[in-house]
Amino acid sequence: MKEIHELSKIEAATELAKLANLIAKADNAYYQNDAPEITDAEYDRLKHRNAAIEALFPDLVRADSPSKRVGATVQSKFNKIEHRFPMLSLGDVFSIDEVDDFVLGVKRFLNTAENIAFMTEPKIDGLSFSARYENGKFVSGATRGDGVIGEDITANLRTIKQLPLQLPQGAPQILEVRGEVYMAKDDFFALNKKNTAEKKKIFANPRNAAAGSLRQLNPNITAERKLSIWAYTWGEVSESQWQTQEEFFIKLQQWGFPVNPLNKICSNVAEIEENFKHIMEIRADLPYDIDGVVYKVNSITLQNRLGFLTRTPRWAIAHKFPAEQALTKIENIRVQVGRTGALTPVADLESINVGGVMVSHATLHNEDEIKRKDFRIGDMVVVQRAGDVIPQLVEVRLDKRPADSVPFVFPDRCPECGAHAIREENEAIRRCTGGLTCPAQAKERLKHFVSKEAFDIVGLGDKVVEEFFADGILRSPADIFTLEERNNAADDLFALTDNKSLHLESRNGWGTLSVKNLFNAINARRTISLPRFIYALGIPQVGSATALLLAKNYNTFDALQSDMIAKETAKLVSIDGIGAEMATDIVEFFGEEHNLSVIEQLRRQIKVEDFINEEINDSQLSGKTVVFTGTLEKMTRLEAKALAQKFGAKVAGSVSSHTDYVIVGTEAGSKAKKATELGVKILSEEEFMEMTK
Ligand code: IVH
Repeated sequence: MKEIHELSKIEAATELAKLANLIAKADNAYYQNDAPEITDAEYDRLKHRNAAIEALFPDLVRADSPSKRVGATVQSKFNKIEHRFPMLSLGDVFSIDEVDDFVLGVKRFLNTAENIAFMTEPKIDGLSFSARYENGKFVSGATRGDGVIGEDITANLRTIKQLPLQLPQGAPQILEVRGEVYMAKDDFFALNKKNTAEKKKIFANPRNAAAGSLRQLNPNITAERKLSIWAYTWGEVSESQWQTQEEFFIKLQQWGFPVNPLNKICSNVAEIEENFKHIMEIRADLPYDIDGVVYKVNSITLQNRLGFLTRTPRWAIAHKFPAEQALTKIENIRVQVGRTGALTPVADLESINVGGVMVSHATLHNEDEIKRKDFRIGDMVVVQRAGDVIPQLVEVRLDKRPADSVPFVFPDRCPECGAHAIREENEAIRRCTGGLTCPAQAKERLKHFVSKEAFDIVGLGDKVVEEFFADGILRSPADIFTLEERNNAADDLFALTDNKSLHLESRNGWGTLSVKNLFNAINARRTISLPRFIYALGIPQVGSATALLLAKNYNTFDALQSDMIAKETAKLVSIDGIGAEMATDIVEFFGEEHNLSVIEQLRRQIKVEDFINEEINDSQLSGKTVVFTGTLEKMTRLEAKALAQKFGAKVAGSVSSHTDYVIVGTEAGSKAKKATELGVKILSEEEFMEMTK
């Protein structure tokens, strides 16, 4: 190859054309196909030579010169976007009876006997997105994430042709349009065909393919995949220009968003059922996957009155298609031990495709279920899967049972620690009595502690916890927060049994970077919100919704803990949503020395934030405990409770010295009397309504 200063002008021009071509091809292979054809060094050499020739012959710089193209920036991880309004999910129902119950529930809440119009929409089996527009311009896009914080997929969404980047005049100044990103069936088949030929990743179903294509750090890959969208709801909006879901769809279309043509108003359950059957019939012929039909109260006024439960709206529900079934063989029955010692039988199955998802395990619930249905190792069984629910075994095909099969004998000892496994009277579940000495329980508690809704420590997945537990690196939650310190200390001080060193960097599958990432992820959780902390403790029966309730009612961990240690349960049992059994479990949890010591060790390492009721803080109801009694005139008790909660109040079921207000309707009885005795302020329904304006 000639030195640059030896090139004639014609030779220089020819070579620049060649270089433009070569570099474009390399870019394409790298960014579009995710399959580089030349090495980075070779690529750099081409770019350098191009730049050097251009420097010598500035008048030969081409319009399509590689020096003018800024390479797509490839991020190492997605930025986070906090949704101004959470992206919620929907409750599921599987039968028309349950739909009927839902509709009745809506009517009861609103205290009306009149028919309510519902917008019915196919439930698209894709991934939800939120697209934000400011002054008509698309400015950012996010995935749903955990509903509160999503991933920034602005660049990826921008590549989807159906998404308008500019809205027409008249659209709200601030508008978040939400909907579903999906991959059409044909595009999915074509992608898999191409990937098969190129020996690349094969996707299990269109939903996975859509997810794999959208969540690409390199948006050029998203651009190459054919993704589509349907828009169906909104987030933040500066000025609402619609009164019904139906009107919203008309607006969406005017603004240029694709709106599903099967969306349809139904006025009663009979129409809803007919529509459901119709959609189920045409399902297979639709060019995209759906997994049910969504019903939404059409009137926005009614939607607002109905409001939300913890994670789902009261005004909408998803009616899922019946479960998909398949026939397969039970290869083994295993008994797993959970974090509370519960023994759960699991069937290992010969892998089978059930409605697009490979299934190789199914839960068998408990020992009675195995007995009742007589599941045995070697049996052919019907397995079913509905939505994202864990696969279930429906029945045994007795005609296919091997002659030598024997009934399954449920163990009466813990398969992990050998302790007696006992079943209390009236309990369906057998539990290991090993408690702290049972490694399975300790391990499961750790897994729960770092799980998504708890401490959410990225990099400490189930496999890593198992490995670290087995090697004695992690035994109790507080160990997580001393890991870095122990790792950095002299190896011999912390050498583990059987001569393994703690030094994580030297472990199989770990390197300096992944260890650093793990420590960063751990350190990022040294301050934790109160609901997450309570949930992470793994108190029996306390899920994330209950943890949130406890946080709202006690505000600080100390307040909760000291009440529980003092067995001060008046406040606890008065909380709407906490029953007697759950209260007992919570008090018992704090009654165990070991749990208190785990908490104490943890709190030396981390800071638990106080919970500030974030609802409407300047309302007179914020932080107050209220009790309703008697019949209300303007709304049902349910609606009144929800309204009080929306304004930051805690609703209790009984009057005590902790009560701030008792709201009395007509025919109020003993609660009103008790309020007078205790000197608790009594409010009329009108006075209460005034406080919610
Ligand atoms: S409305 C507050 N409408 O289903 C209501 N969701 O389980 C927000 N989905 O996360 C959702 N089609 O990803 C709505 N026509 C539709 C939908 C739909 C599919 C998905 C969505 C959501 C999930 C709810």
